Amino acid sequence: MSNSDLWIRDVITSYGLLLLIFIFIAFLTSRKWPNLQKHIYRTYLTGFEVECADLMAPYKKHLFESLQHIVSSDTVLRSMGCIRLLEIGVKTGENIQFYPDGTHFIGVDRNLRLAEYLIKGNRSWQFSHIIIEHLIVGDGSSLKEIPTGHVDIVVTTRSLCSMTSLKSTLREIHRVLTPGGRYLFIEHIPENEGTFIRWLQKMLSQTRIWPSLYGGCHLDIHPIVDIKNTGFNHVTWDTFTLEGYVSQTFHLILSRQHVLGVAVR
Ligand SMILES: C[S@@+](CC[C@H](N)C(=O)[O-])C[C@H]1O[C@@H](n2cnc3c(N)ncnc32)[C@H](O)[C@@H]1O
Repeated sequence: MSNSDLWIRDVITSYGLLLLIFIFIAFLTSRKWPNLQKHIYRTYLTGFEVECADLMAPYKKHLFESLQHIVSSDTVLRSMGCIRLLEIGVKTGENIQFYPDGTHFIGVDRNLRLAEYLIKGNRSWQFSHIIIEHLIVGDGSSLKEIPTGHVDIVVTTRSLCSMTSLKSTLREIHRVLTPGGRYLFIEHIPENEGTFIRWLQKMLSQTRIWPSLYGGCHLDIHPIVDIKNTGFNHVTWDTFTLEGYVSQTFHLILSRQHVLGVAVR
């Protein structure tokens, strides 16, 4: 054997083994990928998103305070001093503690375990002050089961980023609200243009790396222009930076800027 033959043999034996190991790992990972994806997303929802909901509590309290003064357009609910509220992206019901007693609640989430969390779960006693009218497992961009002008309030918090279609979701929110009804939102928004984090948010969202790991979440969506273009009579909003301790810091760094607002139909 010549020197070059020996060299090729050495390369094949050392790198060939590495290549085989790589192919084997890639094969195993691709087979386990759907389970791995589910596991990563679940860990994120029950870890970071719960910590994030805690940090967000003062902002939510401020936003939802106005619910105490809403008068329902439904004559029966009005006579009882109650309102009808729809939340899209309920998760495990972190926002329900802020809703007034007797609120007639409609929840939409694509999570199949929605009812399990709210009705049968070991935290369901925390929701006993509201009346759960309807739970819909489905996509927020299609609310066919809810009649036009049916609800006094719609709420989304950190959920618009994962809707199949932002524009259709906003059109549906506008449709199901009664005239004069309010859409309350707190959504994460991208960092300022020209920053490294903004570049990272764009890159992770547009390559679909982030959405594929975190339930369709896009870090590069700013919904205000679309909310204004949906036909609401009046839109007010403010921005804030979420700060505090969380165990998965990179999640907070990538989604710490928020917009909080109210759109009146
Ligand atoms: C990040 S969590 C926010 C939960 C809650 N709103 C909060 O602030 O704590 C997003 C929620 O939206 C739900 N979701 C994601 N995409 C959805 C879609 N297209 N339609 C309905 N729900 C969706 C997820 O299942 C999850 O429960």
